[in-house]
Amino acid sequence: SELRKLVIAIDGPAGAGKSTIASRLARKLGYVNLESGAMYRALALKAIENDVSFDDSASLLRLAESSRIELQPQIDGNRVLLDGQNVSRRIRERDVTEGASRVSVHPPVREWMVARQREMGVNGGVIMEGRDIGTAVFPDADLKIFLDADPTVRAERRIEQNAAKNDEAAAKALREDLLRRDQRDTTRTASPLVPAADAIVLDSSKLGIEEVLTRIEQLIAERSKA
Ligand code: DC
Repeated sequence: SELRKLVIAIDGPAGAGKSTIASRLARKLGYVNLESGAMYRALALKAIENDVSFDDSASLLRLAESSRIELQPQIDGNRVLLDGQNVSRRIRERDVTEGASRVSVHPPVREWMVARQREMGVNGGVIMEGRDIGTAVFPDADLKIFLDADPTVRAERRIEQNAAKNDEAAAKALREDLLRRDQRDTTRTASPLVPAADAIVLDSSKLGIEEVLTRIEQLIAERSKA
C-alpha cells in the first residue's frame, strides 16, 4: 500500500535520547532528521562572536535575521553551518549550550526559529526534534513523541558522552548545567518544554533504545497508511 510521508515531532529534555532515536528512525524510514536545538545553538554562538548579550532580545533577533543557519542531515546527526562555516563541534561546548537555552527564552527569537523550522517540514518525510515541535512548530504533526527520562539517568548519559567520566569536577558541573537548563527550558513563558496534549510519552530510563524504536515504529506503521 501507499505510505504517506509523515511529519514526526520528538520533544523532550536534554539527554533523553532524542537525537539517537531521531537519526536511527530517519535512517530506517528514509526521512530527514532535523535537530532544532542546533539552530538555537548556532544563534548563541553568533551572539558570543559578536558580543551580543543573551538577554538582548532585539539584538538577538537582528542577529538571527542576518544569519544563515543550515542543518545538513547526516547519518549520525546534523552538520550545522553558520554563515557557511561548519560549527557542528563548537556548538556542543559548554558556553554555547548554556547560551542556547538563554537565547531561546525570547519570543521574537522563537518566532523566527519556528518560521524557519516550518519551512523545513513542508514536504513531509521529516523527523524534527526539540522542545516545542509538537506544541508550536508542527501542532498538526502526524505523530508526536515526548521522550523523557529521569534527570540522574540523563546526566549520566551526558557525562559518558562528554568523557567527563573520570573527572568528578567536570561531572558535577555537567549535572548542575543540565538541571539549570531543564529548569529554564520548562519554566520559560514562551513555549516551555511540556508534552503536547496529544503526545505519546515514552520514558527512556525504563525502556532501552531498541524498545523505544520498536514502539515508535509501531505507531508510525499505524499512522502512515494512506
Ligand atoms: O536540544 P538542544 O540541547 O541542542 O537544545 C539547546 C537549547 O535550545 C535548549 O536548552 C533549549 C533550546 N531549544 C528550544 O528552546 N526549542 C527547541 N525546539 C530546541 C531547543
